[in-house]
Amino acid sequence: MAFVLATAALPPSIAALLAPIELRTIAGTTDRQAFLAAVRGASALMTMVTDRVDDEVLDAAGPGLRIVANVAVGYDNLDVAAIRRRGIVATNTPDVLTGAVAEFTWGMILAVTRRLGEAERLVRAGGWKGWGFDFLTGTELAGKQLGIIGAGRIGRDVARRASAFDVRVVFGGRRPGPDVDGHPVRSIDEVLQTSDIVSLHVPLRDDTRHLIDARAIGLMKPTAFLINTARGAVVDEAALADALEARRIAGAALDVFEREPVVHPTLLTLENVVLLPHLGSATVETRTAMAELAAKNVKAVLDGRAPLTPL
Ligand code: DGY
Repeated sequence: MAFVLATAALPPSIAALLAPIELRTIAGTTDRQAFLAAVRGASALMTMVTDRVDDEVLDAAGPGLRIVANVAVGYDNLDVAAIRRRGIVATNTPDVLTGAVAEFTWGMILAVTRRLGEAERLVRAGGWKGWGFDFLTGTELAGKQLGIIGAGRIGRDVARRASAFDVRVVFGGRRPGPDVDGHPVRSIDEVLQTSDIVSLHVPLRDDTRHLIDARAIGLMKPTAFLINTARGAVVDEAALADALEARRIAGAALDVFEREPVVHPTLLTLENVVLLPHLGSATVETRTAMAELAAKNVKAVLDGRAPLTPL
């Protein structure tokens, strides 16, 4: 009997969308053996960013598996080559989360430049002794330069919101090229050297792993801030922790980490870094839209139609 396996409890609309195909759920896949056992016989998998889907999983699923629908835009957790080799379709969920991640990026920018996390911790710890003229002063955004590395959907949506803060945008790419949405595109090194805030919006691939390493951080202004909502391993976390501790850059806001949910121990001790538990797309509206898009991909493939958002 065909069934779809989802590795998170999804909104009620999803079972309805997939019907009459059965939706089975296992909550969380930190237990690899449980995951391998649960995939057996599945026709489709609805996977989360935390699920590594490789030959082992595909073998365990067996020959009936037709689609791996990742409920995420990023798909570095999928061995896409292995999936394709078996003639299985792989899909992701682009577009539907763009706005949520862009909004969240601005929240992170404000949190780190205006020291919101540090201030909130102080109030909760009973450390607020009253208003002070130079107490917890931050950095203003107006007139500053935001360097956006990666001019894809999310990077461009972050840029679109910049005029609300009177912030100038420069995109960073492998090669300088024509303007994107009216903003210049410069080399990544130039963007690192000239920006007051650098925000990362690239997928994790071999060529972006540790894109921001000690050398890259060394190019940044001592007053600059680094924002990462992309993938943890785009940044060399140990090098960043060193730089933040030595105040070689002013601060960072991180929503993603190299070994989630483990955070580099030095980062946990520092006030000039905002640490968030991978929440970029975490709104009810967006998570529902992501699950629905993934379910529509599953339904299409199991019905013999083309998926909406194939990889
Ligand atoms: C994505 O869609 O890639 C996000 O990281 C999931 O939260």
